[in-house]
Parts: sequence; C-alpha cells; structure tokens
Amino acid sequence: MRLSLRFLIPLLLALAAFAYVAVPLADSLMQRWFVRDLDMRSNLIADTVQEPLSNLILTGSTPRIVTLFNRLLRDERLYAVGLCLQRRGEPVATPNFPRDIDCSQLGRFTPPGEHVLQASTGPLHIAVVDVDSESAPEARLVLVHDMSFVARRSEETRRYLFYFFVALSGAIALITVVIAQLSWRGWVQGLRALLRGEGILRPSGTATAPELRPIARDLKDLIRDLERQYRPLDGSQRIWDQDALRATLRSEFHSNDVIVVSNREPYIHVRSPGGVRIQRPASGLVTALEPVMRACSGTWIAHGSGSADRDTVDRHDRVAVPPDRPIYQVRRIWMTKEEEEGYYAGFANEGLWPLCHIAHVRPTFRSSDFEHYRTVNTRFADAVVAEARTKDPIVLVQDYHFALLPRLIRDRLPDATIITFWHIPWPNPEAFAICPWRNELLDGLLGSSIIGFHTQFHCNNFLDTVDRLVEARVDREAFTVSCRGQATAIHRYPISIEWPPEPLAAQGTIAEARRAVRTRLGLPSDHRVGIGIDRLDYTKGIIERFNAVARLLELEPQWAGRFSFVQIAAPTRGAIGDYRDYAVRVQSRADEINARYPGARHPPIILLAEHHDPVAVYEYHRAADFCFVSSLHDGMNLVAKEFVAARDDEQGVLILSQFAGASRELPEALVVNPYDADQCAAALHLALTMSAEEQRERMRFMRGVVREFNVYRWAGRMLLDAAVMRQRSRMRPFESARGVTAGPA
Ligand code: F6P
Repeated sequence: MRLSLRFLIPLLLALAAFAYVAVPLADSLMQRWFVRDLDMRSNLIADTVQEPLSNLILTGSTPRIVTLFNRLLRDERLYAVGLCLQRRGEPVATPNFPRDIDCSQLGRFTPPGEHVLQASTGPLHIAVVDVDSESAPEARLVLVHDMSFVARRSEETRRYLFYFFVALSGAIALITVVIAQLSWRGWVQGLRALLRGEGILRPSGTATAPELRPIARDLKDLIRDLERQYRPLDGSQRIWDQDALRATLRSEFHSNDVIVVSNREPYIHVRSPGGVRIQRPASGLVTALEPVMRACSGTWIAHGSGSADRDTVDRHDRVAVPPDRPIYQVRRIWMTKEEEEGYYAGFANEGLWPLCHIAHVRPTFRSSDFEHYRTVNTRFADAVVAEARTKDPIVLVQDYHFALLPRLIRDRLPDATIITFWHIPWPNPEAFAICPWRNELLDGLLGSSIIGFHTQFHCNNFLDTVDRLVEARVDREAFTVSCRGQATAIHRYPISIEWPPEPLAAQGTIAEARRAVRTRLGLPSDHRVGIGIDRLDYTKGIIERFNAVARLLELEPQWAGRFSFVQIAAPTRGAIGDYRDYAVRVQSRADEINARYPGARHPPIILLAEHHDPVAVYEYHRAADFCFVSSLHDGMNLVAKEFVAARDDEQGVLILSQFAGASRELPEALVVNPYDADQCAAALHLALTMSAEEQRERMRFMRGVVREFNVYRWAGRMLLDAAVMRQRSRMRPFESARGVTAGPA
C-alpha cells in the first residue's frame, strides 16, 4: 500500500468519528450537564427569594414583586422571572418574560427533561418552583434562564474537540505508517530473504528503510557479537562455501569493497580469425581466485595482456565478468612492451621466480628490470586507490609480481586491510639475500596486514629472512613482524580449488570421457593412460616425469604399447630464454623416449604442447588411470587437487612430488621424489596395477580433504584473521588506557 494511503485512511477515519460520534455525544452531554446545573441554580434562587416573595404576596404589592424580580435579573444568566399566583392567567413577570408561557401551561415544564423552551430569541431554560405562601397556596415561581451560552460553550468545546481529534488522528496515522512499514516490509523481506536462503536481516548493500535503520543496526550488532562469541576464530569448524565466504565478508567487514590484484587476468580477450575469443589462462592463481571473486564480487585489477583486451573495456578500462553472467569487474592495467619485459619477464620471472624455486636455474637481476618492476607496482597502487570505494578496502595482493605494492598502498590508504599471498615458495635467508633489492622487497611486503604462504616451512623461511635482513621485531610465538609501528602477521593458508569445481558441471560420465579422449588420441578403448597437466615450466619436473616413464618401460616392458603418458603442456613465458630452452628439451626428451619403441602401436609419451581450457582439462583428468605431478619445487600445485576433484567415481591414482605443497595435505597420494626415477617408475607401475578398492579408499580420503579445505576456506580464513587484526587494532593499547605515554627511560 502506498505511504500516502497509509497516512490518509487513519486520518479520515478519525475525522469521521469526530463528526458522527464525538460532536453529537459532546453536545448532548453538555446539554444535560447545563440543564442539571440550571435546575440547581434555579432551586437556589427560589430558596433565596422564598421569604421576601411570600411577604410581598401577602401584601399583594405587584409592583414590588416585579422590582424584586428585576433585581434578580442582575444575574446575567437569568433571563426572566415570573410568578403565577393561580393555575391560569398571565404571570406577574419581568418585561421580557416569554409571551408563549402562561400560568395554565406550567405543567409541561415540571417533568424531568422537559425544561427547555425553543423561543424566538433562542433556547430558554424554564424552572418552575412552588412558593411556600399561605395566602396563595397555588403560587409558583417561574425562573427563565438564557441557554444561548450553552450553545456558545458547545461551539467552543467542538472547536477544541476538533483540534484534539486532528492531532490524535495525525498521531494514529503516523503510528500506523510506522507499524505498517515495520511489519509489512520486515515480514515480506524477511520472507523473501528466507526464501533466498538468507537470514531475516538484509544483506548489506541493499537499502534499509530509513525508519528501520537504528533497529536494524542494533540487531546486526547483536547478531555479530553473538557470532563472534560463538565462532572459532580461525573458522576451522565451519563448512566453507560461497555463501559462507560472502557472509564472512558481510559480518566481519560490512562491505564488499574487495580488490584483488594479480598480474594474470582471469579472462583474456584474444583476437582470432573468427573474431574476439575469450581465453581462460593456465594459472593456479586464477583457478583459485576466480570463484572467490564470484562469491565476493568487487574489482580484480590485472595486466590486460590479451590482443583484444583494449577493444573490450569501457572508458575506465573495466570489463564485467564472467562474460555470460557478470558478477565482478576486471580493471585492466596497460604496459608498454619494455615495461612488460622488464617487470614480468625480467625481474619477476628471471629474477624472483628462480630465486624462490630450487630448480637449479640461476636467477638474473638487472637494475633496469627492477626500475620497470617499481614503475608497474606504482601503477597498480594508483589503480587500487582509484578503485577503492572506502578508506579501508580489503585488498588481496597476489604473488611475487607485487612485492613493493603493499607498502605503496599502505602509504596512501593507511586503514586498508592488505592481505598479500605469496603463491610460490619462500627460500632460506641465504638464498634470498642474493637479490640486490632484498630490503626494498621486504619493506614493501611488510606494508601488508597479513602475508600468507602455502606451508609452514615457507612462513619460517620468511621470518628467518626478515630476522636476518630487516630492523624489525620478530615474534616467533605469534608469528608477527613489527616494523615502522605496524604489525604484519605471517600465516600459513594452503590454497585450494572451489568445491564442486565449475568445469565438472559440463562433464559427461567417466566412460564418456575415457572414450572421447582415447578416440581423440587414436588409442584403443582399453589403453592405459596417465596424465600430466602443467605450464611448460622448468619447475614442474616434466623431463623428470618422462624419465620415470622411460624407467617404467625398462623395468616393466609389458606396458610398452599398452600404456601412454599424455602430457598437456601449456606454453608459458615464451619471452624468456630458459623457458624456450626448456620447451625444446621437453619435446626432444619425449621424442627420444618414443623413438626407443618404434614397434609399439602407440607411443609411450603423447605431448600436447598447447593451451587447454578448464573443461577440456577436466575431461583428461576423468579419462586417465592416474595423474602424475612431479614438481621439483612448487608452492602448492592445484593440478593435484583438480584431479582429485574431477574423480567423482573415486577411481584414479595421484602420484605426487614430495616437493609440492599439496603433498602435505594429500599423503594418501603416492608421494615420490621426482629426482628418483626408480622410485617414480615403481609408483607408475603401482598406479597401473592398483586394485579398484585401494584406489577408492585413497581417493575418498583425498576428496574429503579437498572438499573441506577448499578455496573458500582459504580466502575465508585469511579474512577472519584480518578481521580479528582490525578489531584488535581499534582497541586502545594498555599503556594509553592507563594514561602512560612513555616507557621507562
Ligand atoms: O603459481 C605461480 C604463478 O606465477 C602464478 O602467479 C601464476 O598464476 C602462474 O604461476 C602462471 O604464471 P603466469 O601468470 O606467469 O603465466
């Protein structure tokens, strides 16, 4: 119902009540009260004049009787007085005594309620009182009061009543509106929210009716306090999914001002002969963060690296994604070719990448690269400040491309919550000290509220490095670093994937996947297939993997021709010589091994050195008998978790490098040392011969872990920790609470 109606209806009802009930009731009540009053008054006057009047009757002096009556008329209410000595004839009366009353008619004024005469001058009250006179036993005194004052009083009363009713009905109307708003909106929206699976309270971001805001605020505070009291601080006992993550953001931060910064963008627009095509990058980081952004919305700032990226943004360099169902914004940052070479290929991937991975490729540091790295980090900081909608946004900085960024943001948005996640390993202090700009990098990172790593080992290495190289207070119990008056927490957050993974929805049955992949590769339906899926990166141990296959065929030659290892290798970082060399070496090692089995109907190694989108990748996972992840050093490796997530048939074996972070969480895999070809070959053989029952048992365990420790938990735990830090930083320190400003000298 419209607001105006809600207001008008009670108002009109109240006015009708005034006109049809209150006014007649007040009139009749007043009439009765005044008549009774005048009756009493008349009796009083009659009593007062009783004696002089009976004396005058005795003397028979009519003029003196009239004189007495005229004196009585000084009372302004008394209109006329008359005396009937007999039951008929004219009364002895004052001049204005009503002509239509004669002594024979006095009987009609004696019954109760018949005291009013409507004369031409207005209403008159007539009181007839017997006079106690021996000489005239029938004498009766007639006292006539003017009742026009009653009408005047009534008029006045009506006016006051009218004001009173208007005020009353206005108040009722207002109260009705408020109550109607409360109950109607509250219930309807509560019902809608319930139907949507939300709580009774609205999600933040939707407008609350102004009149309800204080109540809503109090309720929310109450609920939040209760939640805080009863939730485990690290979120370990929660079930994490999109909704839980969204609710955490809402309850802990009251906002959706979430900004993600990464080098790689989640959707790349590429020019192709058929028009603009969207490509999903082969990136663990993107795999993990994309579902988080779909849950939180917000803005993702990344390098616009696609050939058609500039054609698809708006005038603020933004594009809404996912393309089919936009939920969040990608803000693209542009770079010149030189900047990209210096910042990305040079400092990040020729310097920091080999520095942090123990893969026996020497890091290369050039000062010109570092200058580009600094320039690009500053450009991203500008974008963060421009995209922030509040003074305290939540900024999720991703990876080694942005070591300087947290400090640059902190300087300009001191209240921001900056969570930096380092997706690759952190080396020991000696190794890190090789970098000529080690102090700048550490200072940049320590602008973060939290720095996250996949494993405790990498957290320890980071703390050791800070302890060795920076003037800071390192607390090894709380795992914090205090520097420049600000604390940074160092925590372990093992990254993961969404559960259930989106590409799974597009899959057919396992049998269909097996058939499709084998047909595509020209393999018979009973051919055994192992799978490896990586970027063509020297840290991934692809050559070691091929070596293991070669060793298997040496040790167990019966597999030749009956088994193939399919390696999907997405080309990556082609501007870097070490990567180009590696791609060549991988190809020649595959050729070399295949050449050893010229008679085999199917090659031992099938190398597909091209990009595959997530749906195609999942199909390979589902078609394989095992997946081999042989990283020489890896922060986490999400391919291992994707394989587990893809196998809803609880079959398939995971062979996993002990140097990948994932091996800490998935010990039910066959954990191997990729440098040990014999051990890896044994694992391959075991995988090809493992019973369905053992496969199921191992897979069930692993699926339980990946399901529960999914990417929503990864993001949610970081946010919860950041929320606790935010709360603590708002509390007054003990010293200042005591009024102590300086410590002991
Ligand atoms: O996991 C480390 C990482 O550098 C991620 O940051 C990135 O998503 C992935 O490897 C792919 O690398 P790039 O973005 O250089 O292709």
